[in-house]
Amino acid sequence: GPRATGRAPRHLLRDDDLAPAEQAEVLELAAAIKADPYGHRPLAGPRAVAVIFDKPSTRTRVSFQVGIAALGGTPIMIDGRDAQFGRGETIADTARVLSRYVDAIVWRTGADDRIQEMAAHADVPVVNALTDGFHPCQVLADLQTVVERHGRTAGLTLTYLGDGANNMAQSLLLGGVTAGMHVRVAAPDGFLPDPAVVADAQTRAAATGGSAALVAVEGRAAALEAAAGADVLVTDTWTSMGQEDDGLDRVAPFRPCRIDAELLERAASGATVLHCLPAHRGDEITAEVLDGPAAAVWDEAENRLHAQKALLTWLLGR
Ligand code: CP
Ligand code: NVA
Repeated sequence: GPRATGRAPRHLLRDDDLAPAEQAEVLELAAAIKADPYGHRPLAGPRAVAVIFDKPSTRTRVSFQVGIAALGGTPIMIDGRDAQFGRGETIADTARVLSRYVDAIVWRTGADDRIQEMAAHADVPVVNALTDGFHPCQVLADLQTVVERHGRTAGLTLTYLGDGANNMAQSLLLGGVTAGMHVRVAAPDGFLPDPAVVADAQTRAAATGGSAALVAVEGRAAALEAAAGADVLVTDTWTSMGQEDDGLDRVAPFRPCRIDAELLERAASGATVLHCLPAHRGDEITAEVLDGPAAAVWDEAENRLHAQKALLTWLLGR
């Protein structure tokens, strides 16, 4: 990049790219930035960040653009479908060129091998703004929200219910155990996380005191059991971006996983409900729960802004 140091850049492609102590530093910085949102201007100069979308976005797009500007930097917002890599320029060549203009690359795309290719050829940090496999920026905001509500993450139990094979489930597994949490993923058979991700989560959990467990949901009893005693309940859409025409039944097998008042009742008292949004009231979560006092979804959405400012500050300050 324009201010390349000669050292290999750090990237955030998946949640376990941050070691436990590093994730804790980013979360502490996120809290400090939230307390003093205009007091941190590490991108003044200004440094520029490319933010590229190959899929739709509301929160990620706006929070990165606002956050980069608030840090004193210049956000360069790019629709991937209009860029040359949308018509055949290689990802590697795109990475080399963008690295000559900007200080970091933030990218929302599909297959994870695409963002791995970008990182392999970039001289600046690459940040995953959602891929098919992971959504680590969202999980930083989720963890910040858990700390706000519960004062800590370590030792808490987080149950995710829904599509266990999607980006949120897999990122909560890796990011949750990195934060020392006990993470349970409850999903219908055929929608459980990638076994390699589960194995990586278990390895990380052994170092933090957390744990990672799967629950195959064939009926309501299994979903209720997975929620029992949980400090944090999380769900997400049953149909992620790009899965609209995958030919799978993404409704009937998921119905037992719906977060409703009965399921919330099984969680620990004072439990927090998270949803990365956009939500589908009546499908993965009832309106009663989403709009009720246990839900922290608006704080969670706000924390995207603070957590991403902290992440960029941390990555570029190294
Ligand atoms: N939660 C989230 O990433 O939202 P957007 O798709 O609106 O960016
Ligand atoms: N799993 C969802 C998250 C949206 C923010 C998707 O990928 O569409």
